[in-house]
Amino acid sequence: MQLKKFIAGLEGAGVETTQERLEPITPYEFPFRTNLRLAVAMVTTFFQRRMPIKPVAAHCFDSWDCIILAGPTWSYNPSGPVLDFLDRYGKDVCGGRLVVPFISCRSYWQLHYWTIKKCLGQYNSKVEKPVVFTHPVKEPWRSIGLLLTLRGKFAWQKYAWLRKHYPKYGHSEEQGVDAMAKGRQLAEKLLNNATG
Ligand SMILES: Cc1cc2nc3c(=O)[nH]c(=O)nc-3n(C[C@H](O)[C@H](O)[C@H](O)COP(=O)(O)O)c2cc1C
Repeated sequence: MQLKKFIAGLEGAGVETTQERLEPITPYEFPFRTNLRLAVAMVTTFFQRRMPIKPVAAHCFDSWDCIILAGPTWSYNPSGPVLDFLDRYGKDVCGGRLVVPFISCRSYWQLHYWTIKKCLGQYNSKVEKPVVFTHPVKEPWRSIGLLLTLRGKFAWQKYAWLRKHYPKYGHSEEQGVDAMAKGRQLAEKLLNNATG
């Protein structure tokens, strides 16, 4: 949702955009059927397991002024599809360009950002500070709610006492408004660069 709003902010301010979804060849499991499968996913993503994606479309290789590289954090790292994108297309799509990482996570995103910065740095990309949206709930509820959601245990939503601490998984409406404002800000910067 935040990404859609961010793009709406960019387009509303007069910036032309195009989007490409990084589509895994084998769709990943969500929610995870067992605790073991979740644990395996956590460990393998911690070690940056790539998740091969389908080829990206030709328009990705056009001369864009800015690439928004959006995706969730998985075990402190960029997600498997984004890691595969960086390996295979980082140079040709992002090389020498302005790149803005757009990160959706529970709370930890720094390593995700550094990994993108380090990888694209070798292709002379200018990697900006990331746009980050964390889950707006206090710990430990934020982690408990995420783990239950990843396991497809939505029954907890029935319990009012738990809902009080963890109203919903993911991001809030307010963050959507913020995302649109951040999109507008980036648009102004890009338009100034183009005219200045
Ligand atoms: C396998 C896995 C590992 C995750 N590890 C982290 C993590 O290390 N740090 C974090 O902040 N969030 C972590 N998350 C939570 C996601 O980053 C978070 O739910 C994010 O908002 C998902 O974005 P999306 O709804 O756009 O897919 C993990 C999620 C999954 C599925």
